[in-house]
Amino acid sequence: MSLLVVGATGTLGRQVARRALDEGHQVRCLVRSPKKAAFLKEWGAELVRGDLCDPESLPPALAGATAVIDAATARPTDSLSIKKVDWDGKVALIQAAKAAGVERYIFFSILDAEKYPHVPLMEIKRCNELFLAESGLNYTTLRLCGFMQGLIGQYAIPILENQAVWVTGESAPVAYMDTQDIAKFAIRALSVPETEKKAFPVVGTRAWSADEIIGLCERLSGQQQPKVTRLPLNLLRTVRKAAMFFQWGWNVADRLAFAEVLATGKPLTAVMDEVYSVFQLDPRETTTLEEYFQEYYSRILKKLKELNYEQAKLKKESKRKIPF
Ligand SMILES: NC(=O)c1ccc[n+]([C@@H]2O[C@H](COP(=O)([O-])OP(=O)(O)OC[C@H]3O[C@@H](n4cnc5c(N)ncnc54)[C@H](OP(=O)(O)O)[C@@H]3O)[C@@H](O)[C@H]2O)c1
Repeated sequence: MSLLVVGATGTLGRQVARRALDEGHQVRCLVRSPKKAAFLKEWGAELVRGDLCDPESLPPALAGATAVIDAATARPTDSLSIKKVDWDGKVALIQAAKAAGVERYIFFSILDAEKYPHVPLMEIKRCNELFLAESGLNYTTLRLCGFMQGLIGQYAIPILENQAVWVTGESAPVAYMDTQDIAKFAIRALSVPETEKKAFPVVGTRAWSADEIIGLCERLSGQQQPKVTRLPLNLLRTVRKAAMFFQWGWNVADRLAFAEVLATGKPLTAVMDEVYSVFQLDPRETTTLEEYFQEYYSRILKKLKELNYEQAKLKKESKRKIPF
């Protein structure tokens, strides 16, 4: 198929582009900065400059595309708000895809979005889903709940470096998934007619609480008693209100609202048996969090060992060179 991937420089989007190329699809990526996206070109994708917030850039990017995979979302560091990118931008993309006669459209939503209308990104995702369902496009929506990749910076590195891990006082367990596994579902949806005009949960093998993740990192990294700083929910609410006061803080405030989802204590997870069966994928091939962290730590600890060895060797050599 001839795919247009939007958001291909992102955590999930790059795995979608990689998987699509590996499976022999023709991949075009709509990117805001071709320089930042150079790695995608090296992989064999075609780059086209565009922006969801510039609707005129969309039709040329869609020309000749048979399918769209949308993995874009507003960056927390961007000046553009969630509303501008995830609502206005997505509406423009869906309309442009319909006008271009695209045959398949894959969208990433968030699990249980309909349960949290007071959380801005959740409400926008719910509206996105409705808008897409009514667009007449042949869509598949995948409802995700958390990426393993995000846990490296949040837990794995600070624990290894004996730095503080920040967690919210009240926190629901989340069924994190490796983005490489999510990408498999997205690409498979293109060839399975039973996934058309439907939404599916796509989540990891089990839900993990913050304390369980900390325990896992402690065991695998060999670091004893990691430092854990617990942020009370009320403090986060106050910070959120303060951020909402300033326009530049809206993006930050919208994201802090997410803490409310975790604070409910309700696990973010779903039963996946039926989903694996529809997508004809094998659940045994899905990476578990233990496997993911095990791989990460063994790679990083091996590198640190090599580095220590090199440093010791250099020290020895420089000592030998000093004659007195
Ligand atoms: N992260 C999670 O745990 C999680 C959980 C549930 C659902 N999801 C959903 O999964 C999808 C992928 O998320 P992610 O975490 O992989 O995203 P990400 O890493 O933050 O990447 C966002 C991508 O969107 C692009 N983008 C941002 N604004 C744009 C604009 N105006 N026009 C065109 N492209 C734009 C970015 O391009 P630049 O490189 O140019 O900034 C980047 O490629 C999203 O739909 C997200 O809502 C994520």
